[in-house]
Amino acid sequence: MTNKPKVDSPIRGLVIELLNAMTLSEKIGQLSLVPGGGPSGTSELVDSIKQGRLGGILNEIESARVEELQRVAVEESRLGIPLLFGRDVIHGFKTIFPIPLGLAACWNREVVYQCARTAAVEAAAAGINWTYAPMLDIGRDPRWGRVAETFGEDPYLISELAREMVTGFQGEDLSEPDSIAACAKHFVGYGASESGRDYNTTNIPMNELHNVHLRPFRAAIEAGVASMMTSFSDFDGVPVSANHHLLTEVLRGTLGFDGLVVSDFKSISQLTVHGLTGSDRESAREAALAGVDMEMSSSTYEENLERLLTEGRITMTDIDRMVSNVLTLKARLGLFDRPHASRTHSRPVSPREHLASAYRAAVESVVLLKNHANCLPVDIGRLKALAVIGPMADEPYEQLGTWVFDGDSALSQTPLDTLQTRFGETVKIQYARGVPNTRSKDRSGFAEAVRIARESDLAILFVGEESILSGEAHCRADIRLPGCQQELVAEIAKTGKPVVAIVMAGRPLVLQTLLDRADSVLFAWHPGSMAGPALVDLITGEKVPSGKLPVTFPRMTGQIPIYCAHKNTGRPATDETYVHIDDIKRGAFQTSVGNTSFYFDAGYTPQFPLGFGLSYVDFEFANIRLSSAQLRPGEVLYVEADLTNRGTVEAEEVAQLYVRDLVGSVTRPIKELVGFKRVTLKPGETKTVEFSLTSDDLAFYNRNLKFVSEPGEFHVWIGGSSDTELRAEFELLAE
Ligand code: BGC
Repeated sequence: MTNKPKVDSPIRGLVIELLNAMTLSEKIGQLSLVPGGGPSGTSELVDSIKQGRLGGILNEIESARVEELQRVAVEESRLGIPLLFGRDVIHGFKTIFPIPLGLAACWNREVVYQCARTAAVEAAAAGINWTYAPMLDIGRDPRWGRVAETFGEDPYLISELAREMVTGFQGEDLSEPDSIAACAKHFVGYGASESGRDYNTTNIPMNELHNVHLRPFRAAIEAGVASMMTSFSDFDGVPVSANHHLLTEVLRGTLGFDGLVVSDFKSISQLTVHGLTGSDRESAREAALAGVDMEMSSSTYEENLERLLTEGRITMTDIDRMVSNVLTLKARLGLFDRPHASRTHSRPVSPREHLASAYRAAVESVVLLKNHANCLPVDIGRLKALAVIGPMADEPYEQLGTWVFDGDSALSQTPLDTLQTRFGETVKIQYARGVPNTRSKDRSGFAEAVRIARESDLAILFVGEESILSGEAHCRADIRLPGCQQELVAEIAKTGKPVVAIVMAGRPLVLQTLLDRADSVLFAWHPGSMAGPALVDLITGEKVPSGKLPVTFPRMTGQIPIYCAHKNTGRPATDETYVHIDDIKRGAFQTSVGNTSFYFDAGYTPQFPLGFGLSYVDFEFANIRLSSAQLRPGEVLYVEADLTNRGTVEAEEVAQLYVRDLVGSVTRPIKELVGFKRVTLKPGETKTVEFSLTSDDLAFYNRNLKFVSEPGEFHVWIGGSSDTELRAEFELLAE
């Protein structure tokens, strides 16, 4: 689905007419996006609106106030220009879906679309007309708290989901009452914050910028995304909010983006803190000339653009260009015709329908990492006694995850709630937190937890990270289970009772201790409002796990960054060349352990690869075949395999397609995701999964940053995970 912005002539006419009528102060006002004042800031805010000194307000979500402020803008300002009302609506508004990393784990375009559509309907009903999503940063460092907000590590997966999220928020037409403008962020490279510490400098080679980091933004632009937010980060010495090359040459030029560019929160005034500029005036000039149209939360434009203009250091053409992008978005949103929140309600908001969508997303997002001796599913109704243990079992707020400003935790159904409601009458359910919260080192609750485990037939442990441990600025250098949860798991395992562990977390974790001790492990991210029903249905087998990892899980934190589409190096490790630290002979000669690319202590493979996820059934992929051994540009190559459900229940598998370009004018990744689809299979059923490839799917940016497909040999794989070995070969021919 694409929804490319059409700046048609009536909109252009309106914008020109307004620009001709506006004073300089009114123009500069349109470039200002300020936080809502709350009751205390009201009079100042209202005055600014009356004087036409504001273009938009963020974080004002009390609908009566939104309505009133919009009324002032339209009725009491000289030109009656309506306001943008922006808010971070990231993975739901009131009804909360899994965090974006969890949504990505569904590997389901439709689910992501539904999340955004549901959020748009709810947010629009509160008067919001602009969201700061989707976040399209590459998530290759799980220490980085914002990995929770990403769609994971892979540019193809992120791009596919970016399109859906943009379309979901913006609807068929931005001017529809329940459409809201999307904002792709953070342009560009923020995910590469060094050492996974938020806001840190990035170090991105040009080739990687184009082949990896820009790809999802290109997809969002193709889907018609209305706005872009600049990254906080430094890019090769020039912070992105002042980076003319990125914002003008690449974004406007190469990518052809014609929407609104907004700064991140105070990222323009922070240019002085970066050490790029010595004053706010210089920051305003750098950002304006680089291509930032609207300033979020700081006031360098408001305070300095007029002076810069009189000094001749920026021009009226620059200002008009910026203002025109703001006005065009307002016009595309239909705000000049229907400025008020009451432009919404094309149909009533249906909480039940929304919760059903959130439930489906939660079910599909959960990844089964381990299932020893088919410990799962469990027929809970047949147990005599069940122990529910852990700090995440009954946390209506914590299960929602990061960025849930408006999330209604009263809608949350926790796993404990659901278990008690469904089985409380027939099974003796005992509950102990074990630890006060996920970070706590207080072990005084262990004894009680061990006691109830001993008295039960099964212990279900809910461990992980509270919401606050991931998200913006919430980074961790050690990504094992925090607090003393590892010890809690070990104590419960010592009881000898079967242990099912559910991990709720905002990032991949290093899980070795848990994997060693629990019989089964489900990784649930932060599942959102419907965590309880989704998880209980998965535990009982009412639903079969089908989530797949959108990001590689390391064995140890020190392996980071570790991801699927890496380069081969000149000295790749193999099982034959790998030497474990315990196997090095005393006094070993320097080269006696070989010279290949691995860690003595962590090896060279991840704990779990991209795309990994078990099911309650065994799926078998076989007979990979190609429609031809050669692909000519302009033609289509079909790649097929047979997929069989070897289990006894119906289940869904995510079939994944990977390629490797063996020789490139720039080195190519050892395996790249290029396709995926969800397939439902009855017990014993075999289906053919078919993918198509064209030369465009194999193209990349070469040494001269030209997008080319180079003839040569390719490997292609189909499977249920990136470590699939079901491979075929073909040749891409020259034009
Ligand atoms: C974040 C953005 C967010 C903005 C507005 C910033 O701190 O980096 O992602 O949209 O705040 O809340």
